[in-house]
Amino acid sequence: MLKGKHIILGITGSIAAYKSAVLCRLLVSAGAEVKVVMTPLAKQFITPLTMATVSQHPILVDFFNPENGEWNSHVKLGEWADLYLIAPATANTMAKMATGVADNLLLTTYLSARCPVAVAPAMDLDMYAHVATQRNIEQLRRDGVHIVEPGSGFLASGLVGKGRMAEPEHIVEAVSAILEEKKKSLEGKHFLVTAGATIEPIDPVRFISNHSSGKMGYAVAEALSERGAEVTLVSGRTSLATPKGVKRVDVLSAEDMWQECVARFPECDGAVMCAAVADYTPSVVAEQKLKKGDSDMTLELRRTKDIAATLGANKGKRVLVGFAMETEHEQQNAVGKLERKNFDFIVLNSLRTEGAGFRGDTNVVTLIDREHSQPLPLMSKHEVAEKIVDKIEEFL
Ligand code: C5P
Repeated sequence: MLKGKHIILGITGSIAAYKSAVLCRLLVSAGAEVKVVMTPLAKQFITPLTMATVSQHPILVDFFNPENGEWNSHVKLGEWADLYLIAPATANTMAKMATGVADNLLLTTYLSARCPVAVAPAMDLDMYAHVATQRNIEQLRRDGVHIVEPGSGFLASGLVGKGRMAEPEHIVEAVSAILEEKKKSLEGKHFLVTAGATIEPIDPVRFISNHSSGKMGYAVAEALSERGAEVTLVSGRTSLATPKGVKRVDVLSAEDMWQECVARFPECDGAVMCAAVADYTPSVVAEQKLKKGDSDMTLELRRTKDIAATLGANKGKRVLVGFAMETEHEQQNAVGKLERKNFDFIVLNSLRTEGAGFRGDTNVVTLIDREHSQPLPLMSKHEVAEKIVDKIEEFL
């Protein structure tokens, strides 16, 4: 995959820059041509001589060569590259990328690059967890930048936690996958994805809902779209931004979601049912705000329609994927749903597992089809989405 590829390796001022030499070496040995751009501070962490030797090209730091005034064209660099990898990426550089600041060659090259861009963040655990850093990472993701998630472990500060740059071997794998993705393996395919929580009104003010953030479904929609599929995302309530290239249809209740999905499924090649759909809805929706009295009140609920089961019954050759969020008898319940709703495979997550479930950015899932049960380790929801889409491709 990397043979003959042109890669710009951007290095910023983090102690993890010592790993950039190994990373560069691995890319070159895999057949890539690598040009290195460094920020001025990065030179304090790894020498330009080291990087020039391993990359077999002069290092670029300044906008021009102070010796002879020769211009280092970020535009030409951006055009030359098949991929721009920034590893390590500091909180500072990512903040600048997220807002379009262009005060060094590494950043102007980012703004000029037409190729896919990947960043491998590296910093102290508190800097990584800070809401500002997370907001910037989320912005970069929305801008189409691939994030090679940092690992957990010993940090230069002596603390232990998440923030270590991913290992060079892992970054090389991620880069290969991005270049492969560019093949757009799902071009011409159309998918329906449901996500988020439904809202079941009680009166004009109150409703019944659940804790779903929609993050998993949005990550699946994004992963499908990145591989070239046309994606319609039927979304319940979330606070998330629509992933790039995805068509979003907002709904409120389970009934609304059912209508949209049933109407759109026939034109689709598959559907991924990530939404947390209410199983019950108030039998009567009060027209006016209900007034409290002195006594208790009882709310009568009726069953909603099962969207997944309806699509499953009319599935034909389409691929249908479901989710099961369980708190007990996980495997048994998931297999029951796989059968009942006629899914091709089901993604099981247990609320008993740390790092899985609502709201967080990570998940721990098991992919279950009629023959195999494949448990996956703790991953970001984006990585889980990639695994789900890989499996969808097997079924197509
Ligand atoms: O039966 P249960 O709600 O646990 O099944 C979960 C799976 O079914 C999920 O994929 C969910 O999106 C889907 N579902 C649905 N419509 C419903 C209830 C669940 O599509 N009314």
